[in-house]
This record gives sequence, C-alpha cells and structure tokens, in this order.
Amino acid sequence: MIEKSLVLVKPDAVGRGLSGAIISRLENTGMALIALKMLHMDQALAKRHYAPHKERPFFNGLIGFITSGPVVAAVFEGDDAVSVIRTAMGATDPAKAATGSIRNDFGLDIERNAVHGSDSVQTATHEIGLYFTDTELMRYTRKE
Ligand code: RTP
Ligand code: MG
Repeated sequence: MIEKSLVLVKPDAVGRGLSGAIISRLENTGMALIALKMLHMDQALAKRHYAPHKERPFFNGLIGFITSGPVVAAVFEGDDAVSVIRTAMGATDPAKAATGSIRNDFGLDIERNAVHGSDSVQTATHEIGLYFTDTELMRYTRKE
C-alpha cells in the first residue's frame, strides 16, 4: 500500500552535519521525498508531536532535546513507507539498532538517536499535519 511517513532529522544529527547523509539513506530506500524543510521546534510543537509520551519519565528530557536546535522535517512516500523508513532507521536505542541502520551508524544514545519516523499510517497523517500543509506535499513519480 502507498503510505506516507514523517521524518525528522533530530538536532544531534543536524548539528553534526549529517542531514544530507540521512536524507540520502532514506532516498536510497526507493521512497519518494515529497516534502522538506528546516525548523526550530518550539515547546508547543514538540509537546504536540510527542503527546503520546507525555506520561513517560523521559518526556521532559525529550522535549528539551528536540527543541535544543534545528531539525530537518521531511515526508517520504511509497510502498509500505512507514515500515520501510522504520527499518532503515533501526531500533530506538542505537546500541541495539541493526548494523547498517541509520541509528546504529549515526545515533549517539537512546535520546540523541539521529532520526524520527512515524510508527503507523495513522500517526503519519497526524504528524505530517503538524509540519506541512497539503500544498507543500509534492506529487511526482519516483523513478528507480
Ligand atoms: P521516534 O518516535 O523518535 O521515531 O522514536 P521511536 O518511535 O523509535 O521511539 P519512541 O518509543 O516513540 O520514543 C520516542 C523517543 O523518546 C526517546 N526515548 N527515550 N530514555 C528512554 O528510555 C527513552 N525511550 C525513548 C527516544 O529519543 C525516542 O526516539
Ligand atoms: Mg515513536
């Protein structure tokens, strides 16, 4: 099924000059890059993005981290995009992420784990709406 996924290159990775490398890895999955912007998330946007985690002990640290510097927000589209992007990212903890995954190669620890990707189609729809309007989502056919 054709799906969309919202990706964030997190402040730790932007700050180390890894934005291009991470977007490139994701393009190499074959998914189409259909939206891209940089922004510095404020507290309100961060809390909306991570609302499902608001009762978790790491929530305040997570909000502090994701607002600590600019992020790159992107939307990828393609067949099974949600799981394809999650597989390319690797597990949440870079130490447990598969060899060759983005988090294993570029993540520093469970908080500074380089990249975010939507965890379901429903989440993706919600998250894309936090960052992009419909007219900012491009329509084209990704070629091999
Ligand atoms: P993300 O939402 O950022 O793509 O990461 P994820 O789905 O792999 O992990 P999730 O469970 O949604 O957690 C969101 C972010 O919270 C931080 N976290 N810290 N200290 C901890 O035990 C802990 N657990 C999660 C991570 O930065 C994770 O990306
Ligand atoms: Mg998540």
